[in-house]
Amino acid sequence: MKNFSAVILAAGSGARMKSSLPKVMHKLSGKPLVEWVIDAASTLKPDNIVVVLGHGAKIVEEYLSGSNVKFVYQKEQLGSAHAVMQAEKVLKNYSGNILVINGDVPLIKSSTLLSLMKNNEKTNSAVTVLSAKVENPFGYGRIVRKDGFLEKISEEKDSNLIEKLIKEINSGVYCFDKNLWQAISKVKQNNAKKEYYLTDTIAILKEFGKKVSLITVKDEYEVKGINNRVELSQAEAILKNNKIKELLDKGITFVDATNVYISYDAKIGSDTVIYPGVFIDKGVSIGKKCVIKGTSYIIDSKIGDESTVLYSYVKGAVIDKKVKIGPFAHIRQESVLKENVGIGNFSEIKKAVIAKNSQVKHLSYIGDANVGKDVNIGAGTITCNYDGEKKHQTIIGSKSFVGSNVNFVAPVRVGFGALIAAGSTITNDVPSGKLAIARARQELKSRKTCK
Ligand code: UD1
Ligand code: MG
Repeated sequence: MKNFSAVILAAGSGARMKSSLPKVMHKLSGKPLVEWVIDAASTLKPDNIVVVLGHGAKIVEEYLSGSNVKFVYQKEQLGSAHAVMQAEKVLKNYSGNILVINGDVPLIKSSTLLSLMKNNEKTNSAVTVLSAKVENPFGYGRIVRKDGFLEKISEEKDSNLIEKLIKEINSGVYCFDKNLWQAISKVKQNNAKKEYYLTDTIAILKEFGKKVSLITVKDEYEVKGINNRVELSQAEAILKNNKIKELLDKGITFVDATNVYISYDAKIGSDTVIYPGVFIDKGVSIGKKCVIKGTSYIIDSKIGDESTVLYSYVKGAVIDKKVKIGPFAHIRQESVLKENVGIGNFSEIKKAVIAKNSQVKHLSYIGDANVGKDVNIGAGTITCNYDGEKKHQTIIGSKSFVGSNVNFVAPVRVGFGALIAAGSTITNDVPSGKLAIARARQELKSRKTCK
């Protein structure tokens, strides 16, 4: 196949979203619409990805800065053809395929984009349009055929009653060859919206005597355009249902699949059971035979086999196998919990490594710490890690036993097999094998007579 460049149209205001945010920055499964489209094109390794920005350009540009895309600007939003025209300065002398994708069709698959480009070459066409047959075509441009062949695209507002009955629609995804620029220069604003329609290039290319083709997508959902919040929520439901189906097929149980949120990129192992109320956000992988019970929120974390998460919040953590979290635990960024660790109710862990078999079962805060193997941390233990300016480390050696209600004033180090008496405030290092008691002695005094 020839090389290609992608032009992604993202300048429209998205008035129907009724939002201060540009439409293409609205998120679907945690990822902005425009990024979905960019990702679908990027997989196929284009020579250039040109994003046309306009409404809310700064916000989109800032979000995409650092990615490998080029930006062009459409000062006034005069229509989709006018948007594509802005990319001419980058691609004027480009001889490969030009894939044009509306920035609001997030569910489009790379495999479909590939088929579209292959068709354009195979049939020697100047353009191949991706069409779809939909139950409710309202709002879309209709595919008008003559003798079975693509004749033109008629926009909703410009369609006559017969055209409005057509259920085959334009998806807003096209593969053009280099004739695009000549055709687009001929587009006029003679339509209901007084816009320059990209869809007019079809009829124009035909007038030039060029061949125009279409292919029809199999799954209607792929070309769902997002123009308002209803369509956004429908797309969210489609994505979630597809994901749940994929996971069910891989051997995961959902006790109530209607009552969970699972990000498109979640990886979950077989025989894991997900209970109602679970929210699995972006960047999560969960092993086999785990149990995740609601209400739990997990993001950007890895959880090993046979672990359980009950009613807990887990963010940015690496969790090994057979770990028990919760109920009601808070596992924060850069926490590493090794095999068989237990973190119980109302315990918070942050930037701490907790080695094999160690337990923090009740009401504790362990932050900026390194806890060895087989350590028991008593209820109410706190690492006092912050002096008002800097964070400091607490190190607790393996096989140590920490009684209840201990404060470790960091930086502080406890050796191997030490014992910390309950209620101690530890300000100095404790060597291996020692018992540290750092609390006021109990005194007994006579009590005034009780009345
Ligand atoms: C468009 C198509 C329609 C198709 C539908 C598929 C045209 C004229 N119509 O209609 O045939 O069925 O998509 O979803 O193209 N944009 C700009 N600058 C502008 C106008 C639009 O960048 O001046 C961008 C928008 O940000 C959006 C895309 O172009 O990503 C399409 O615009 P939109 O207004 O959503 O067009 P539709 O009415 O959906
Ligand atoms: Mg649209």
